[in-house]
Amino acid sequence: MSNSKPAATAPGAPSPDDLWLAFERSARRRPGATCVIRRSGEDELRETWSGVRRLALAQARSLCAHGVQGGEPVLLAAETRIEWLVADLAIAAVGAVSVPLDVTLPRSELTVILGSCGARLALVSGAFEAERLIDAWPATTEDRLVVAFDAETQRERSDRRGRRRLHLSELQLPPGMRLIDAAAWLTVGASLTDAALDERLLSRRGGGLTTIIHTAATTGAPRGVQWTSAALLFEAGALGKALQLQQDDRVMLALPLTFAFARVVAWTSLCAGAELALPEGKTLRLNDLARLQPTIVPAVPRQLEALAVAMRQLVHGHGNVRRRLLHWATAVGTEVSQLRHQGEAPTGWLRARNAAAAAMVLGRFPAALGGRVRALISGGAPLPVELAEWYHAVGLDLLEGYGLTECCACATLARPGFARIGTVGRPLDGVEIAIAEDGEVLLRGANIMAGYDRDPEGTAAVIDDDGWLHTGDVGEFGVDGALRIVDRKGDLIRTSGGKSVAPARIEAHLQASPVIAAALVHGEGRPWLSALLSLDERPLKRFCAEKDIAYTDFPEVSKHPLVYRMVERVIEERNRSLASFETIRKFAIIDREFTIEDGDLTPTLELRRAAIARKYSKLLDSFYEDGY
Ligand SMILES: Nc1ncnc2c1ncn2[C@@H]1O[C@H](COP(=O)(O)OP(=O)(O)OP(=O)(O)O)[C@@H](O)[C@H]1O
Ligand SMILES: [Mg+2]
Repeated sequence: MSNSKPAATAPGAPSPDDLWLAFERSARRRPGATCVIRRSGEDELRETWSGVRRLALAQARSLCAHGVQGGEPVLLAAETRIEWLVADLAIAAVGAVSVPLDVTLPRSELTVILGSCGARLALVSGAFEAERLIDAWPATTEDRLVVAFDAETQRERSDRRGRRRLHLSELQLPPGMRLIDAAAWLTVGASLTDAALDERLLSRRGGGLTTIIHTAATTGAPRGVQWTSAALLFEAGALGKALQLQQDDRVMLALPLTFAFARVVAWTSLCAGAELALPEGKTLRLNDLARLQPTIVPAVPRQLEALAVAMRQLVHGHGNVRRRLLHWATAVGTEVSQLRHQGEAPTGWLRARNAAAAAMVLGRFPAALGGRVRALISGGAPLPVELAEWYHAVGLDLLEGYGLTECCACATLARPGFARIGTVGRPLDGVEIAIAEDGEVLLRGANIMAGYDRDPEGTAAVIDDDGWLHTGDVGEFGVDGALRIVDRKGDLIRTSGGKSVAPARIEAHLQASPVIAAALVHGEGRPWLSALLSLDERPLKRFCAEKDIAYTDFPEVSKHPLVYRMVERVIEERNRSLASFETIRKFAIIDREFTIEDGDLTPTLELRRAAIARKYSKLLDSFYEDGY
């Protein structure tokens, strides 16, 4: 924790930068109102603000009684659930440092993170998470304790060992490690007096280091990024303001809280006194949206792509007439939204057609999302322009944001009603942006990280003496001050013909086709571009049914010649809207899905391009062997 910069606030006088106090302020305003809702199966669990406060204080009591010190790291490994938020609040309340951990990462990465962070306490969701953690945790400290929120976990899908149910009692523990359930953990705190807890809460200093978030490791190994509570509160305030977040908003989080953007959105909601709605799982399901009726929905582009497919299916079903009607209505909607984005009003005739389109079909899209959504937010990766245009055409305000873990996740955001499609919007209030001579985006503001954990050299390499964070992304400003991200600096491809190509944009363009689940564009030092494609199983199944191809299994079917020809046509069609040096001349279909476990994807489902290119280097080389 060498780089933390605790604020110099005297004990007994908690600073306004204190996360726990910010939560308490919201909780005091409406103690009986709902703070968080979670869907679990067909059930809905609700907690009020006073309920969350009470639960967090009980956890804080156990943390103190267990001897957790101010500034001490505490691991947190769970899916997005109420207990996660409660634990996060409790850790903040006692001034400890939460270290979220994604146990779906490859074991070797988990071991590096666990080995370096020096924690001796881990709060985990259930037996499956506990097992992964115990297995990967090197014995850096004696007397390690794992607390599981659930004693027994049951899953819909079996794990790689064919198990769907696991109990804590089935786990083998190494020497010096203990494992208890939530009930036993609460009894740990029972002995602590109220006075001792109060004293601890008062001695906590605001503004200092509060969490270490690991980056997605898209470009290399994950790096621990230190956030102070001052930075997180600044970010939550700025994001809340940009979104005009109010108490009557309901924010639906279908994202893992290990993802910096999701974490910031959760704190933004808590600070603004809005409601959080947590669906089960990581997909944006129509069923959840319809039931939970959120007003704000943050997501990553992959989730938004899948949601668009589901909505289209729901609205047009399989009928040809409805499909044609939808086609017409979307074209009208696109015309209107394009005019609006250029600051112009539609003419009377277009307005009339748009009203008809909305009444006949377009109105069904917002209704399918519960009818209250006022903004969807896309972050974490480039949003395909076509997809953004489609959302706007059907009357849904999709706002793209940009940032990185090193700046508390979000530096820019399109504003409600002012999305500039193809850009990531304007900076949040208080965030400065500059473009370096080589095009790199530089950021400065109170949301910049304190530093990389235990890595002063790494920190100095990205934050210069004037406080600018060098993002590693290339960007440019549009006419109205909105930022456009070109690509990551290190990912820009220079072909042997000297053309510079931004692969992320082409990949997003290819992935906008429903059949392509993931695309990796290759071409550094080559005469032209090629791509590795992984297919989406659902449209593939539909295609096989239409063509009478027996669907044996995914690897087998993805090698079928008719499937290859179908994908070839998709690529030809996609190539038509690319400049000639950006077109894909050769491609191969990968006969498996890219996964997080195999190290191909980040936890937010972004491609780890270097790792994939290494795995398939022979195949990529073979594209260029005959040299044309
Ligand atoms: N709207 C966006 N458009 C394009 N790229 C984006 C957008 N939002 C985020 N990004 C990309 O995501 C990066 C931030 O991601 P994050 O901090 O989660 O980890 P990472 O950079 O993917 O991982 P690592 O730093 O470990 O390689 C940004 O630097 C940028 O490249
Ligand atoms: Mg990064």
